[in-house]
Amino acid sequence: MNRLADQHLSNPLREGLATRAAPQPCTVVIFGATGDLTMRKLVPALYNITADGEMPPGVAVVGFARREKTDEQFRTEQEETTRKFSRQQVRDDVWKQFGNSLFYHQSEFHDPDGYKRLVDRLDKLDQERGTGGNRLFYLAVAPDQFEAILKNLKAVGLNKGKDGGWARVIVEKPFGTDLPSARELNRVVRTAFSEEQTYRIDHFLGKETAQNILVLRFANAIFEPLWNARYVDHVQITAAETLGVENRAGYYEGAGALRDMVQNHLLQLLCLVAMEPPTDLGADSVRDEKVKVVRSLRHFKESEVAEHVMRAQYSAGAINGKEVPAYRAEKNVNPESQTETYVALRMHVDNWRWAQVPFYVRVGKRLPKSGTEISVHFKKAPSVLFNKDTPVLDQNVLVIRIQPDEGISLRMQAKMPGTSFRIQPVKMDFHYGTSFGKASPEAYERLLLDAMSGDATLFARRDEVEEAWAFIDTIEHAWAAKKNAPPLLFYPAGSWGPEEADELLAGEGHAWRRL
Ligand code: BG6
Repeated sequence: MNRLADQHLSNPLREGLATRAAPQPCTVVIFGATGDLTMRKLVPALYNITADGEMPPGVAVVGFARREKTDEQFRTEQEETTRKFSRQQVRDDVWKQFGNSLFYHQSEFHDPDGYKRLVDRLDKLDQERGTGGNRLFYLAVAPDQFEAILKNLKAVGLNKGKDGGWARVIVEKPFGTDLPSARELNRVVRTAFSEEQTYRIDHFLGKETAQNILVLRFANAIFEPLWNARYVDHVQITAAETLGVENRAGYYEGAGALRDMVQNHLLQLLCLVAMEPPTDLGADSVRDEKVKVVRSLRHFKESEVAEHVMRAQYSAGAINGKEVPAYRAEKNVNPESQTETYVALRMHVDNWRWAQVPFYVRVGKRLPKSGTEISVHFKKAPSVLFNKDTPVLDQNVLVIRIQPDEGISLRMQAKMPGTSFRIQPVKMDFHYGTSFGKASPEAYERLLLDAMSGDATLFARRDEVEEAWAFIDTIEHAWAAKKNAPPLLFYPAGSWGPEEADELLAGEGHAWRRL
């Protein structure tokens, strides 16, 4: 028995948000096994879980894809890419063990015969490896393939576990492009798998520091009393990337930053910051509270979008001294593309806790630095004593660094050493790396283990996804309007976005935090 399962018997592990049951032996079937996600993220994550001794015994990974290939070829290819993309250096002994648990299954996604053969294959693996009839299906394919795959899985009974085992499905983003399409996808998934069997992945929720937001808030007594409109002046959430669109124009042209990042990742972070304490740490209790936040978001009227949301696209510029082309000059991008690569929003959560507190959210590609962080800006100290002169003292700011250099810092005022009375902001800083002395697992590692243990806390629920789309749709509609659509602005690659985005905050006396 592996270490995790062992410990679980006597003492359930308190990991992250919840007491997680031990991950169970199963077969992981990856649809889209020759794609980018599988080679960059999924197989390396499964390898790292094995290397860390956390993989349940017997787990088999079956890659399902259209190209002809033998198990051996699949293993060799995956070894090569895992060596390139793995978080930890690949160890030969671990790979030997892990590589032998990889299998390849060739079939078209819509070929019923391929699924009949899959049933035989999985039954055989159950017997050989003791995977207990448990199956985890990973849809790492474009959403237009979902229907064929799910229909066929159901037709051969693979939507149920075998002999008392379980069947679960992990669905990758993009989960729809608007509310109607998300509803339709939910309907399609529902035809084969129940909500309890469905795990909609949002890899930001698997990031160590995202999970730590709830620990910070609810495992400490000092923050929660201040975590409201009385003490918090405003909140900022930034996800900045130096990368451009890379080779993903096919997808990104139809998505843009709002759909790609805000609808999912950034709204999820906002929910973790703004939610009420859940009644317990169960998946539904946590998600019940998150969905209430999305429901409390102040929806814009289409005519208000220009005032609260800025969209922009990068033009040519330089990143770290290296010249980079404009978005419109990137491979497979329409030279007149209207797709936004940057978006900034001023949002409000209209509930008692957050009444009148602005939440400023921005995301962009080709910005000068990569980094994701949340900053909670507290109200100023009263204008008396040390704070009665101008310029007034800086506010206290609590920064949660999601990546890189995961950690939390608190800015406060301190007296400078010396005989005169000078005050300067200082930082109390916690770094994951130095405090715990080990690297955090990648989001996909955590999320795959959670799915193997049946813990859906860090996966998006159907209602959360649909509510988020309802909020996003008005903005997209305003942008798509034939008349009076808010303009698409431009910013040089390597800058912090269009100047107009500063005005979103300036009116209220705020400014974007420098990363
Ligand atoms: C993905 C988006 O979901 O998240 C990408 O599609 C983005 O456009 C990526 O680059 C960012 O994730 P991370 O983990 O690299 O910050």
